[in-house]
Order: sequence, then C-alpha cells, then structure tokens
Amino acid sequence: MKARWFLMAGLLLLLVPAIAFGEDKPAYLDPTLSPEVRTEDLLSRMTLREKLGQMVQIDLGQIGKGFNEVLLERAIVEYGVGSILSGGSGSPMINTPEGWAKMANEIQRLTSETRLKIPVIYGVDAVHGHNAVPGATIYPHNLGIAATFNQELAQAYAAETAEEVAATGLHWTFAPVLDVARDPRWGRTHETLGEDPYTVAEMGKSLIIGFQSSGKIIACGKHYLGYSAPNNGMDRNPADFSERTLREIHLPPYQAAIQAGLCSIMVNSGEVNGEPAHASKYLLTDVLRGELGFTGLTVSDYEDIRKLWSIHKVAPTRNDALALAHNAGVDMSMEAGRPEIVDLMESLVEEDKLPVSRVDEAVRRILMVKFRLGLFERQPADPAVAKRVIGNEQSRRLARQLASQSLVLLRNPDKLLPLSKQIPSILVVGPAANGLSRLCGGWTIGWQGARDQQLTGRTVLEAVKGKVSPETKVTYIEDFTDEDQLKEGLDEAAVVLAVVGEKPYAEWYGDSQDLALSYDQQRLLKTIADSGKPTVIVAAAGRPLIIDEQQMNMAALLWAFLPGTEGGEAIADVIFGDVNPSGRLPITFPARIGQLPMPYTVKRTVPYEPLFPFGYGLSYTQFKYSAIQAPERVKVGENITITVKIKNIGKRAGDEVVMLFVRREYASVTTPLRSLQGFARVSLAPGEEKTVKFQLTPAQISILNPRMKWVEEPGDVGISIGGIGTTVTITE
Ligand code: BGC
Repeated sequence: MKARWFLMAGLLLLLVPAIAFGEDKPAYLDPTLSPEVRTEDLLSRMTLREKLGQMVQIDLGQIGKGFNEVLLERAIVEYGVGSILSGGSGSPMINTPEGWAKMANEIQRLTSETRLKIPVIYGVDAVHGHNAVPGATIYPHNLGIAATFNQELAQAYAAETAEEVAATGLHWTFAPVLDVARDPRWGRTHETLGEDPYTVAEMGKSLIIGFQSSGKIIACGKHYLGYSAPNNGMDRNPADFSERTLREIHLPPYQAAIQAGLCSIMVNSGEVNGEPAHASKYLLTDVLRGELGFTGLTVSDYEDIRKLWSIHKVAPTRNDALALAHNAGVDMSMEAGRPEIVDLMESLVEEDKLPVSRVDEAVRRILMVKFRLGLFERQPADPAVAKRVIGNEQSRRLARQLASQSLVLLRNPDKLLPLSKQIPSILVVGPAANGLSRLCGGWTIGWQGARDQQLTGRTVLEAVKGKVSPETKVTYIEDFTDEDQLKEGLDEAAVVLAVVGEKPYAEWYGDSQDLALSYDQQRLLKTIADSGKPTVIVAAAGRPLIIDEQQMNMAALLWAFLPGTEGGEAIADVIFGDVNPSGRLPITFPARIGQLPMPYTVKRTVPYEPLFPFGYGLSYTQFKYSAIQAPERVKVGENITITVKIKNIGKRAGDEVVMLFVRREYASVTTPLRSLQGFARVSLAPGEEKTVKFQLTPAQISILNPRMKWVEEPGDVGISIGGIGTTVTITE
C-alpha cells in the first residue's frame, strides 16, 4: 500500500516540474541559491526512478570498451545514472587528453537529453597524478608521498592533479587511500600512506585539502574501514580485529579526513569481524555518520553490493543485497555495466524493502555534492586546455621534487654515495634500469600498469648518462640473465648500479607470499656481490622487500617507493649528490617474513628487531639534536609545547625529517612502545641550527580506556625526538 502511494506521488511529481518550468527558472537551476536549497528543490521534482538512477554509477570500460554510444545513451538517458567512472581500464577510444575531454563533454551532452538535466559526476582513480591519461605526469605512489613527510608538497601535488582531472572534464578522484598498512604482503601496500595512523591522518589531510581546495573536484577516502587488514595480507581476505584496533589504528585517519572536509568515502570490499563492510550499519551509519559526523556521500567499491549475495553470502538474492547495502548506509552503487539495477531498486521500494526516506537521504547527499561542485553551471571541458595541462612542466618539476624527497637511503657503507660525476666507468643493469613502467607501478595508464613506451620521462639509465662527465663510460646490459656478459661488464666497471624491483601490479595481483625479489634478480645481485665491485642497489618497489644480506654484500641501498615518471631523474639526482636524500621509511622493513605483521606500533613482548625501523633513512650529512624542552608538568586538558634544536653538523646542506614520538610510561591499558605524534621537515645549510616547535594536544596523548572511551589519564608521558628525550607528567 505504502509503495503504491509513493508511485502515485512519483507520477504526480512528474507534473510539478512542468508547472515549475513554467516559472522563469526552477530554483535548482539558480546558482545564486545555496546548495541546500537547490538540492531540496530538485529532490522535490524528481520521480522515484530518477532518484534511484542517481544512486547508480556505471563503469565506462564495461559499457562497451570506451565509447559505445548506444549503451552509454541508454545508461544516461533511459536509466538516468547519476555517475560514471573509469575503473582500472575505462578510457576513451581515442586515449589522449583531448579524447578524455571530448568523452566527458559527450557524457554531459547526453544528460541534457534527460528531463531534469542533472549532470553526471564522473569519477576516476587519479591516485598518483591523472594516471589513466597518456602523457600525464606520474607522481610517486602514496607510500612514496608518505616517505617525503612533506605535507606542503603533498598538498601541492594533489592540487595540481585536481587541475588535470578537471581539465579533462572529470570531477571526482577515488583518492586518497586512508587505509593503514598492516602487512606488506598485501598487494595494495604502495597505495597506502604507510603503517602509522598519525602519518596516514596527517598526509591524508594534506592530500584531501589539495584535491578539493579549488572546488573543481572532490576526493574520496577509501576503503572504509579496515580494508588494509586482511588476514595474512591477501587482498580481500576477511579482516578480524578488535574494537580497540578499529578505533586506535583504522579510524583516526578517517576522523582527520572528515574534519578536513572530505566529501566522499568508498567502502571496504572485504569483511570486518564477520560482517562485510558494505552490509555494516554499524560502520556505515552508527560510526561514520553518528560518531564521525560525516555528511558527504558514500560509494560502494566495484560491484561490491552484488558480492554481498554472490561471494559473502549474507543476502539470499541480488535484490536483498541491494537492500542490505543501501539500508546500511551506502548511497551510491559502483556497478560494472548494468544500469538495469535501477529496475531492481524500484522493485525494492515497491516491496517496502528500501524506504523512500533512505533513497531521499542518499540522493540528497549525491545532489549536494553536484551542487557544491557547481556541476549544473560547468562549461564543457576545452580539449586544447586538457592537452596543455596534462603533463605540464610545472607538474613535472613538482613530481621530480616529490620523487627525490621520497627516496630513502637505507645503507651507505664506506660512504660510497654520492658518486662522483667523474667516475671512469659505471655498469648499469637490472630490469628497472631502462624503463619507466617499473618506476610507476600499477594504476598507470592501465590497471596493472603501463608499457614503457606509453610513458614520458627519463629512465634511470638516461638520467645517469645525463649526469656523468663526457669521459665516463656508461655500460648497460639489457639481458642481465646472461651471466657471461654480466661478468665481462663487471670486470670493466669501476662502479655498478643495479636497479631492481617489482613488476607493476594492482590489487590482489600484487599479493606476495615472500616479499622476495624474483629469482633472476636475486642471482643478479649475488653475481654482483661476488664480483666485490662497489655497488649501488636501487630498489623500485611498492613496499619493503626482504633482501638477503649476502646479496646486498657491502652495497649502498636506495629505496624508491614507485617514484613515477620523474623517478629516473630523481634517482640520478640523489646518486650523484645533486640532491641530499631525505626520505624516511613510512613502514617497517622486516628482517624475516616470520616477523610479520610488524608495524612499529604493534604491542609486542618480543623486541622490535626489523631490518630497518619505521622512520629510518640516511643522509649525506649529519644532524645533531639538543636542548629538548617541555614543561615538567601539565594539567589534564592542557596542550604541551615541546621545542628541540637541530643542527647540521656535516658538510652538505640537507633536509631532516624531525620526528616526535610519544610513549605512555604507565596506563590503564597497554600502549605501544612509541607512537609518532609530530613531524616536521627542516632544511639546514652546513653548520646551521634551527629550533623546531611541536604542540601536542590532549587528544594526542589520550588513551582508549577499557570502556572504549578516549581519556587523558594522569601519569608520565615520555617524549623522544632524534634520540633524545624528556618526560612530562600529566596531573589531575
Ligand atoms: C578498487 C578501488 C577503485 C575501484 C574503481 C576497485 O577495484 O578497490 O580502489 O577505486 O576499483 O576503479
């Protein structure tokens, strides 16, 4: 009965706009009105079907590769879908910046054929630059961005990417990943901002502000919640963790992101504690809306509503799955190529399984985003501008700066690095030495990465050639498995540069059982080690790998967390000393696979003995910390101001990432041995000294008590910065 009433009301509503359009202009088309007023006006004019259409997102790559006009028109005009995405490989037929802009314009043109002319919001995985577009500057993946600990640059990169995305006529990036890395075997570790909740929250905030600041696009924090914690690191395995872990580790980045104005959230594909996130009213409504106060829009992950029925088996039919997810709090369903989902949703409303009030709530959130973005007033994208903006010079400079600050020098025995540009000869070898695809990783042009020829930039080999003196002999061995050639090359070389690493991958294709380099590469390193030649190993990888001590021998080791198209130049900058390395590990490097999981924040009764700890990274200069100062006592609820002096006592200018760690001496619950609560990147000339100031808020030293409440307990708080420390007593 109720359902029939709604259908009648829907029919009546069809008449309202006719009358309304008789007015000069319906309120929702008036840009001088607030998004709230416009949303309510539009909502009041919409039929149920039109509303349901808004809740559906279709993948361009699945409605006929690229540009099947008939199917596209059907999705937009007949079914009125509210959103289109380009999933991993959904690109236009003519895959150029202009091609993207024209495609986006064609999609908006189709929306003008609909009754209410509601623009489509177009989403794309611009996760390290506008990475699906050929010619775009590819920035480091998030793990590399985190390694810079440079919030200003992170924000600048995101702002630049937003310009590029908007220039091609798109409005929404499915970034940043706010999942906290727990186990590097997980194939999406490189997409995270590392293992530390504070770093993820801080760097994540900068990215969100950068993406959204111009108002041209919105960001999407993903994958809410606990997606990065699948059992044994295999993608989308069930995650099982305590309420404490949920609140101490996984939730804080989302909380920070929402406070920073995050406009949309994508849901975790997997299950948490026995309940798929897409079906979890607790996570999606009680916590996200009730506790965190999120008012933006929630989108499902790819086909994940369907999977509640087909994989998770928590819904007996496809329809029930839809009702379950939307009632739990999912506003928009990311479908593959089936706009017909609108029909199913309509039957759900008729059967009273999906209340119209819930539909209205979801559509309201979707429309609010569209109005806030000004989509109803947007002019078509200009293909010439798209061409000019994509891969522009400024973005290349920015990416090079980020890439060079993301490189982490892990070993430098005998100070082999930086190399002299005058070295007589250098042998360059390894699968990542003369191509860009391995420097860029997955989500580059295609889902599983690009072919070298599709990328613009200089390889490590080319960049090395550009650095060394005209007298230096640079030899490159392409087939590094040819032992004879390799040995011959080694005999003649003064120095060896081995550029190894992982093949590009994305999602579960990247899961690793052993974190090992391929067998061929292990042999390569062993042969090089046996030669006894001074060696620099550069590893381009999306995570820590376990490298055998013997293969490393006495080599210098520089870690490149997928630095992108400018990575070749950045690596050469550091190797030859034009840039002093300053990246710091945003993730622990285990010594053995059996130690996993081993984020530095995990409480353990066995010592934390990694190969390289969280926060580690060497420089070509030395820094000395002194005069750490903090009040002896503060009252509960007061901020704590801490200052420390840092001096460059070496001979080269350099950047230091100053890190402040906090430790509760005693508390009513167990706490980590240390937890990062502040960082600052400081540039220092030789001999220069600076004072760095931090302020800790009460929230930063609070603990989650046994009743699951954040409280600031009185007691001693240890503070350490750069190996020196002090204690502050918190009193009642
Ligand atoms: C991934 C998301 C991504 C979406 C759209 C999914 O498979 O999990 O991170 O945003 O595809 O491409």
